[in-house]
Amino acid sequence: MNKRGSFDSKLGVVLASAGSAVGLGNIWRFPTEVGQNGGAAFILVYIAFVLFLALPVMVSEFVIGRSSGTNIVHAFRKLAPSRWWMTIGFMGVLAGFLVLSFYSVVAGWTLKFTVDAVAYRISGADPAQAFNSFVSDTWSPMLYMAIFLLFTHLVVIRGIRSGIERYSKLMMPLLLLIILVLVGCSIGMPGSAEGIRFLLQPDFTKVTPHVVLSAMGQAFFSLSVGIGCLATYASYFKKDMNLPGSAVHVCAIDTLVAIISGFVIFPAVFSVKGVHPDAGAGLVFITLPHVFSSAFAQMSWLGYFFSVLFYLLLLLAALTSSISMHEICTSFVSEHYNLTRKKAATLVTLVYLVLGAACSLSFGPWKDYTLAGMTVFGWFDFATAMFIMPLGGIFISLFTGWCMKRGLLTDELTNNGTLKVRGLKFLIFLIRWVAPIGVGMVFLDQVVKLFN
Ligand code: ALA
Repeated sequence: MNKRGSFDSKLGVVLASAGSAVGLGNIWRFPTEVGQNGGAAFILVYIAFVLFLALPVMVSEFVIGRSSGTNIVHAFRKLAPSRWWMTIGFMGVLAGFLVLSFYSVVAGWTLKFTVDAVAYRISGADPAQAFNSFVSDTWSPMLYMAIFLLFTHLVVIRGIRSGIERYSKLMMPLLLLIILVLVGCSIGMPGSAEGIRFLLQPDFTKVTPHVVLSAMGQAFFSLSVGIGCLATYASYFKKDMNLPGSAVHVCAIDTLVAIISGFVIFPAVFSVKGVHPDAGAGLVFITLPHVFSSAFAQMSWLGYFFSVLFYLLLLLAALTSSISMHEICTSFVSEHYNLTRKKAATLVTLVYLVLGAACSLSFGPWKDYTLAGMTVFGWFDFATAMFIMPLGGIFISLFTGWCMKRGLLTDELTNNGTLKVRGLKFLIFLIRWVAPIGVGMVFLDQVVKLFN
């Protein structure tokens, strides 16, 4: 059996876990959802889901990971009373493959936009046409996707301390610094007040059942919970880590980055007449290039600076998350088949290349191959954010709350009684009752709608 690594410092743990959470979900998906679902009202519903549903699932994952000290499938084999529970672990590995396959396509686009921004080639003239012609091409988006996967691979093969922890400690502070600089630039733009108002004034008439469901899917996707990603990281935690405290830090960083991203994007978007906040998935790849060229026409050096930093931010965020998804699969393949990390990671990367290619082609030659109106890319996104993640969340919290050996949950949360955790009883109540019932209700509602 290969020797398992471990994280070296508490800061490393929080930055790596926050890196897993902070990703395209915060900077690309969150503002898109906010823009389409009514602004501040969506943000409030989202925060409630983070606190009452996603946070307890995250703590559960930390408990499962650290107490088992192994990959997500073997964790259930070790801790669960019946082998049936390993299905939840396998679902996590499957999700790790599906998420990173479509994720690496969008990350590839981000890489291309970063290169274009640096080379001063972001097209402001007809950004929609430029974007559509790029993504519908066969080879170039695939090439960028493959380069992005190679970056991810190179970090993962270096292991926990010299790979994941080291690069998270470098990339996360840089990411936080960039986002703060960008928010300053964006808020300072003329006409930005309307964008700020959009983010701060809740309009509850917009909170439909669909918005509630989107907010939950977004909370789970953004925090990477329900698929064993954080359980995998926690399997490398030391025994003195404060699990509830770390989960609170990760949720706080992730939510702040998502909201600050809104403050980067919307003031800029509203500062240009005729540009709308509900542009959907094209918001950062079509709307923003237009904003860069219109808003900064007088000061092109500022537009250059803003666009380079923005796409670099997106790229860093994508990379810290993709590493964690890769790690779910690499740790499983390496430990299950007793392979070295390097061999396991290489096999996993090859599978990503194949699945990612199928997702990339969904925008070009395969765009007409659909099932129930969705392409391969659409299915991978839908199956994970709307199906596997909530289902995983329900079972992970049920398992931690009810099925783990008695006393183990409290022992893990309090480090065998050496740690005083404020609100411990309430946290256990959230894990046992609120998370499974809450996620279950929203999930069932969705399944019923799907079959109607
Ligand atoms: N949690 C990751 C993100 O938000 C997947 O992008």
